[in-house]
Amino acid sequence: MANLIINGKTFAIDVEPDTPLLWAIRENAGLTGTKYGCGIAQCGACTVHIDGVATRSCGVSVGEALGKQITTIEGLAADGALTKVQQAWIDHDVPQCGYCQSGMIMAVTALLKDNPKPTDQDINDAITNICRCGTFQQVREAIHAVANA
Ligand code: FES
Ligand code: FES
Repeated sequence: MANLIINGKTFAIDVEPDTPLLWAIRENAGLTGTKYGCGIAQCGACTVHIDGVATRSCGVSVGEALGKQITTIEGLAADGALTKVQQAWIDHDVPQCGYCQSGMIMAVTALLKDNPKPTDQDINDAITNICRCGTFQQVREAIHAVANA
């Protein structure tokens, strides 16, 4: 049994320590906003924050996440008010199919926390999430809108 702290709540989860964190988040904690894309830490669909750092949860084991603060997309607007990034995603019509967007928003939220006014190069370096709908230009616009608000 593993106790994972997700969005400020403790989940007692019955999995092996080497289970990918993404599996535990989706299957055991029932938080399905975090998506499975590639499973090999390449696409970013599964991005969560671990102790505030954007992390691809398919590449982290449950054992490595024990005792750490995990935040998923469901935890961003925990008080019911959208974050600035989430609001910008609506204002700039960023999502298309939406599948990659939870991970995209988690990655962008972490970037803007560390670097409130990123350049295009900073964005290129930090946001390597893959969007098969090609929303990269809208993502960039929304990031600059939050930074310049
Ligand atoms: S599913 Fe984790 S990076 Fe693609
Ligand atoms: S919005 Fe469809 S994959 Fe990104």
